[in-house]
Amino acid sequence: MKKAKLTIFRCTSCGHEEPKWLGRCPECGEWNTLLETSSTSHIQAGSSTPNLNLSSIPLSAVDPQEGIRINSGVSELDRVLGGGMMKRSAILVGGEPGIGKSTLLLQAAASAETKGRILYISGEESAGQIRMRSDRLGIAGDRIEVYCSALLQDIERILEAVKPIIVIVDSVQTLYSPDIGMVPGTVNQMKYCSYELIHWVKEHDAVLFLVAHVTKDGQISGPKTLEHMVDTVLYFEQNEGDTRFLRASKNRFGSIDEIGLFSMQEKGLVPVEDPSTLFLVRRDGEIPPGIATAAVLEGSRPLLVEIQALVIPAKGAMSRVFSDTVDTSRISRIAATLEKHTKLRLSDHDMYVNVAGGIRISEVGLDLALAAALHSARTGLALPAKTFLAGELSLAGEVRPIRRLASRIKAGRALSFTRFIGPGQEQRPRLDELSPGDTEIYIRVPDIKTAIKKLMEQP
Ligand code: TYD
Ligand code: MG
Repeated sequence: MKKAKLTIFRCTSCGHEEPKWLGRCPECGEWNTLLETSSTSHIQAGSSTPNLNLSSIPLSAVDPQEGIRINSGVSELDRVLGGGMMKRSAILVGGEPGIGKSTLLLQAAASAETKGRILYISGEESAGQIRMRSDRLGIAGDRIEVYCSALLQDIERILEAVKPIIVIVDSVQTLYSPDIGMVPGTVNQMKYCSYELIHWVKEHDAVLFLVAHVTKDGQISGPKTLEHMVDTVLYFEQNEGDTRFLRASKNRFGSIDEIGLFSMQEKGLVPVEDPSTLFLVRRDGEIPPGIATAAVLEGSRPLLVEIQALVIPAKGAMSRVFSDTVDTSRISRIAATLEKHTKLRLSDHDMYVNVAGGIRISEVGLDLALAAALHSARTGLALPAKTFLAGELSLAGEVRPIRRLASRIKAGRALSFTRFIGPGQEQRPRLDELSPGDTEIYIRVPDIKTAIKKLMEQP
């Protein structure tokens, strides 16, 4: 087959291609980054690949195997990915150094349900160090092949030789190619090398994991620039304890609501099978003021979480809101709604809100419990024990219906809560089948005022 002799100019910063040379890349705006590329390089594949059909095909003729998923064998990872890793996809795994990214991917590599070869490329650790880790994790290493280099050209050669189905690159920050200079870790190096590797897995029906270190103090600009190039972006987060949260901030093949929960143990990451008690504080008898329990939905999973609020007279002229776990503008909105509809003055107070276990919650069902916690903190009146809440609050003070109400009530009942305060408006009964046991503990409230009144009636 005769190859078309084509000359293209490719931006070394973002990978954009132009038929003629330009001083400035029209895509990323960088100067002097367009390089003439030789026609034999696979870089040209984007514009003309010999094995790419230049005609459309009927959808029914597309091989369904192309979109097949591979289970990683790590249930919480598969959950966040939307049911396993999609072939031909690139997944960026970000997180602070030491949080467990390498551990997670080594575990996934060991248990992945595939007969294909699995290649772990490390630019950070030696083969010996990886072996020590896998021994600690109790992994039989015969399924994983390791290659320790960060030089793109070497990696590409290995990929061609091994033809792996799963490729793990740990980490993108170490990758470099002399085409872009010899210094690893620059944004351009990372983008260029990642682009080449993503390109390779797309052509070879493989899955690519790119590990990226992200530090808290704003050092995210590097890996952030890779987000648009990959299909899925996962972030690994940590609370004060052993719990690790895995969230998708982008997922072309699944929802971004699902959250993966792990606990870091002596022998690696252990999926948290029953997370319902992770975010509750065991209390016998009376609970202190400022505390409310919410039934929230994290992806498809109902969770009971304890919300803690502290309300004190404002120190400055302006009242302020502090929280690491709940969006502060949301706290302000709930406080304003509460003030307007219950005449409880909060606007001259500073408010602190926390969720036990350090989990970040953005689900709308939290509103009602958040209002209850703020009310209790401000008035000093503790909420009755064994009561939990869920509902969205409108600015008009109404308690709005929420998704999957029945499963939330069930989750609370399973933890022996005996009173549920939730939306008074009609839930769609077809979607939410309440059992007689659910109905028995369910107190329907149309608005925030009624909710507070019902809460204060001791059962
Ligand atoms: P690691 O996977 O190396 O983190 P990252 O790749 O994100 O930098 O995890 C390192 C931390 O995890 C380290 O502090 C030790 C701890 N750890 C365990 O607690 N148990 C284990 O089984 C392993 C392998 C690591
Ligand atoms: Mg690591």
